[in-house]
Amino acid sequence: MQLHVSPSLRHVTVLPGKGVREFIKVRVGPRWASYRMLFYSLLFFTFLLRFIFVLSTVDAIDGDHSKCSTIGCLGKRIAPKILGRRIQSNVPEVIYRILDEPVSEDEVQGKSDIPQTLQDFMAEIKESSKSDAKSFALKLRQMILLLEQRTRNAKIQEYLYRHVASSSIPKQLHCLALKLANEHSNNAAARLQLPSAELVPALVDNSYFHFVLASDNVLAASVVATSLVKNALRPRNFVLHIITDEKTYAPMQAWFSLHPLAPAVIEVKSLNQFDWISKGKIPVLEAMEKDQRVRSKFRGGSSAIVANNTEKPQVIAAKLQALSPKYNSLMNHIRIHLPELFPSLNKVVFLDDDIVIQTDLSPLWDIDMNGKVNGAVETCRGEDSFVMSKRLKSYLNFSHPLIAHSFDPNECAWAYGMNIFDLEAWRKSNITLTYYHWLEQNLKSDLSLWQLGTLPPGLIAFHGQVRVIDPFWHMLGLGYQDNTTLSDAETAGVIHFNGRAKPWLDIAFPQLRPLWAKYIDFSDKFIKGCHIRAS
Ligand SMILES: *[C@@H]1O[C@H](CO)[C@@H](O)[C@H](O)[C@H]1NC(C)=O
Ligand SMILES: *[C@@H]1O[C@H](CO)[C@@H](O)[C@H](O)[C@H]1NC(C)=O
Ligand SMILES: *[C@@H]1O[C@H](CO)[C@@H](O)[C@H](O)[C@H]1NC(C)=O
Ligand SMILES: *[C@@H]1O[C@H](CO)[C@@H](O)[C@H](O)[C@H]1NC(C)=O
Repeated sequence: MQLHVSPSLRHVTVLPGKGVREFIKVRVGPRWASYRMLFYSLLFFTFLLRFIFVLSTVDAIDGDHSKCSTIGCLGKRIAPKILGRRIQSNVPEVIYRILDEPVSEDEVQGKSDIPQTLQDFMAEIKESSKSDAKSFALKLRQMILLLEQRTRNAKIQEYLYRHVASSSIPKQLHCLALKLANEHSNNAAARLQLPSAELVPALVDNSYFHFVLASDNVLAASVVATSLVKNALRPRNFVLHIITDEKTYAPMQAWFSLHPLAPAVIEVKSLNQFDWISKGKIPVLEAMEKDQRVRSKFRGGSSAIVANNTEKPQVIAAKLQALSPKYNSLMNHIRIHLPELFPSLNKVVFLDDDIVIQTDLSPLWDIDMNGKVNGAVETCRGEDSFVMSKRLKSYLNFSHPLIAHSFDPNECAWAYGMNIFDLEAWRKSNITLTYYHWLEQNLKSDLSLWQLGTLPPGLIAFHGQVRVIDPFWHMLGLGYQDNTTLSDAETAGVIHFNGRAKPWLDIAFPQLRPLWAKYIDFSDKFIKGCHIRAS
């Protein structure tokens, strides 16, 4: 006989086999009775409420050889006998009483004598001298509790694994960063000033088209840059400002020194090289630090979150994710400071590093912004009802009076990833102040206005400042659903792999990955050396 609890499927399978008959005999009162039926009915009662119960073969139950594999069939065969008088009178009251007793938290904690499997359980009951109904029920209860806890922990881990799979750095990308850092220190050609001195004036020249990309992922940045420049009609008018963090600066500079995209102008700059930041005006760092402090204590911290036994595993995993530093990276927050980072520029297009550009982006400068600050695509209308269903209520907690009094839950949301920012108009507004004001409110109310990401405060800060642009300029959702076809995606000007399934991860959707991978030269020595492959 086998009992198998599958963590991911939430199925319990019981496979009766040989030896059942001799085992299920426990002493009840003065007589020995066959507890074969009793055992099944107990398993049935104790498991059924919690799991989907699948009995693969129940021939053994009554010496009946018809197969039963569905819950309905099982119910029909077992239930009448359990509920009928014949069996009920056979189930000692003490067993129900013990199974009904409230379970204390530490009943199974640290105990080593709990049967780990059904076989162990059977063996123990068989050997035990005091195999009375009470110890039978106690052991059964402990075993079930243990299995349940394990199932639950496995479930939480499974959800977390999916999160980790999407937020940790795959070893190929790590390898690439190391190889490039090494090249940076050993090869002068990997340490070129980017851009070269004669092109520096272009960086502040508003007759150029300026793009900003913030990333700590060299491979992703190279795809954005390559796809931007390769599809440009007049690449010599393009300036791409790549902002990265201190640790990624050397690999990033090495990559773009050795893989120039001339005639486009590429600037690589670490955040600490910006005047504005080195002068100490860094509200973003302060806000992030505060945010991290609140998050680490949020709902009592991670151990308290896991300890709540009544919460569903996926809810626990989601709460743990809210503590993840992934949602609190400087790269994500920095875009709210574009006007300060680029004080001489009037207009920029800000690109996320999980996008691919498939068309010439210079027409974005022809769009009349109507005095608005942020040109973005809306995310509440469109053919794809799954991706295009986002309104303010999807991101903000409208049960909170502060939100409910200030915003309309049905107002359409918009997306980050490919935005035109009119920095002149932005400097006249108080968008950045509003952003920090609400960040502060959210911290004060213990993260109850919103929980994750920089989009919710962005939606608030840019409220009334959004110029809706054609969806052609930004197709979303390629990282969280795979019903976008390759041919649909090919028709968009910019595609965005927002969601977990980033194209540089193993969990990418294979049919969409070529759209990204086509901008990587797989014969390149760094790419090849790190075993980064086309599929
Ligand atoms: C555990 O989660 C449940 C369901 O959300 C909640 O009602 C309960 O207050 C939580 N218990 C603790 C101790 O946080
Ligand atoms: C700045 O924000 C405050 C409150 O958030 C608002 O009352 C005021 O009108 C805003 N000023 C401008 C110029 O937008
Ligand atoms: C939303 O706000 C209400 C009211 O403050 C609060 O009770 C609730 O916990 C919040 N929801 C979330 C998911 O934070
Ligand atoms: C797209 O896929 C998701 C799950 O991957 C599904 O929930 C959704 O209904 C699908 N949308 C359409 C339009 O088929």
